Amino acid sequence: MNQNTLSMRLERVAAHIPAGARLADIGSDHGYLPVALLLRGAIASALAGEVALTPYHAAMRSVRDNGLEQQATVRLANGLAAIEPGDDITVVSLCGMGGETIRDILDAGKAYLSGHERLVLQPNGGEQPLRQWLMDNGYGIVCEEVLRENRFDYEIIVAEPGQAAVYSPEQLYFGPCLLAARSPAFLFKWQRMLRQKQQTLANFGRAREAVAQEKIEDFQRQIEWISAVLA
Ligand SMILES: C[S@@+](CC[C@H](N)C(=O)[O-])C[C@H]1O[C@@H](n2cnc3c(N)ncnc32)[C@H](O)[C@@H]1O
Repeated sequence: MNQNTLSMRLERVAAHIPAGARLADIGSDHGYLPVALLLRGAIASALAGEVALTPYHAAMRSVRDNGLEQQATVRLANGLAAIEPGDDITVVSLCGMGGETIRDILDAGKAYLSGHERLVLQPNGGEQPLRQWLMDNGYGIVCEEVLRENRFDYEIIVAEPGQAAVYSPEQLYFGPCLLAARSPAFLFKWQRMLRQKQQTLANFGRAREAVAQEKIEDFQRQIEWISAVLA
């Protein structure tokens, strides 16, 4: 993967970034997503935010090597603190991190958002607490995708402010749009998850040390929900 050839995962993220956007890609690593979108002329400007020095320098190099210094800014900052008022950001992407990490970045950095930005999120697990945060903070989930690449299932969650909705526990777990669409990729993911959860529950029964009843009941509830969706 590089700025010319994105992974399928980042290609699908890119599909949810509207043409002409002013993008803030937080946790950008090499900056492949914003640089690829600028090279295609798909967005107006980009900010790549990084908390760690090595990826920050990698993103700087990607911008410089592609002669994009006029349209792209790279900032070393923790989470949304990379965004400055004059940036006039319209889309914030947070990809390739755990859902809880993305939630914590959003929660800690609310003050840096104008309240008008589309959020394009690609959590690696932890989707449920992330959706909970979106609901609790007045975001509506307008689109979701699940895709499989390199033997991993990735979810993409697109949220917009001012579209507040109340989601059921099952919708927060599976994703409201994914649950409604029931795509083949979604069904495959949950077939695999069902097998994994059933195996884990069986292992609980064989464990040397007693597993907390609460944890067993949580797994049983998840298995019931997944079985109902696949029925
Ligand atoms: C696994 S990489 C994902 C890179 C890219 N977004 C992608 O999806 O391919 C996660 C990146 O997020 C950065 N990161 C983690 N926490 C961060 C934070 N609080 N603020 C900014 N960047 C962060 C890490 O330094 C790392 O480069």
